Amino acid sequence: MSITDEGHYGPKQLNLLKVVWGEGFLSPGGTNEIDEVMEGINSLGKEILDIGCGCGGAAIHLIKKHGAKSVLGIDVEPLVIKKAKELAAKYNLSGSTDFRCVRPGPLDMPDESVDIVFSKEVFLHIPNKEDLLKDIYRVLKPKGIVAVSDWMRIDDNPPSKQMREYIAAEGLDMHMYSLKRYEQVLKNSGFTNIVIKDRNKWYHNKAKKELAAIEGSLKKQVVDVIGLEETNGAIDIWKQLIGVLETGEHRPGHFKAVKIG
Ligand SMILES: C[S@@+](CC[C@H](N)C(=O)[O-])C[C@H]1O[C@@H](n2cnc3c(N)ncnc32)[C@H](O)[C@@H]1O
Repeated sequence: MSITDEGHYGPKQLNLLKVVWGEGFLSPGGTNEIDEVMEGINSLGKEILDIGCGCGGAAIHLIKKHGAKSVLGIDVEPLVIKKAKELAAKYNLSGSTDFRCVRPGPLDMPDESVDIVFSKEVFLHIPNKEDLLKDIYRVLKPKGIVAVSDWMRIDDNPPSKQMREYIAAEGLDMHMYSLKRYEQVLKNSGFTNIVIKDRNKWYHNKAKKELAAIEGSLKKQVVDVIGLEETNGAIDIWKQLIGVLETGEHRPGHFKAVKIG
């Protein structure tokens, strides 16, 4: 048995991540990390597309704290879309949010229809970033902004054995680009004002705290939702994750860029 047996983002994975990363979040850092991704971006009254919205935590925060007019969240997993809708209802934000389950592939949206494209820890699951960023450029209005957090790698050489073992342990598809390669792809897609932020040090420190919590203060809660055997499996995965953060091969990062308009 493993945490991804019921699908990459199935009930067990969602329950585990809710305990560790908080309600609405399937990636680390909660609302503070969203603020970091959105630093310097004025989203007041803007229409935002959240690619890979997961359980909706970012959409709620982008409206409540950043003043976005509306957020359209898209994701390939029906269960996370259901959770996102429930979360929006809980915050009385069903009217300004729209969560849709989509197929992987090109965005089903008109040209120049969105002010800001936001995404957090999703692009690693999408193999072709060239096509993805060209498509994002297409749907953005002139002067529109793309703001992304993603799990990246130190370079674009084949992953080390340690990295391959970590990815296999996660049981998820991970196609990680380096920060430099993202910069090139953004330029090739026509984006300008590109800002790249390396978050390896931040997440290395945070992941160690997460592991300590899973082994300590959160252990009972984690065992309650996924059982002891899978809690031990999750602890092993976190150790492998910390290993590749420590070598620096795993480099969480942010980028933002503007569509010339
Ligand atoms: C690590 S989770 C992050 C979710 C959310 N952005 C967050 O930070 O809480 C990755 C999400 O990407 C979604 N995903 C994977 N491939 C996708 C694709 N091609 N298009 C849209 N979403 C995708 C998964 O279903 C999952 O909800």
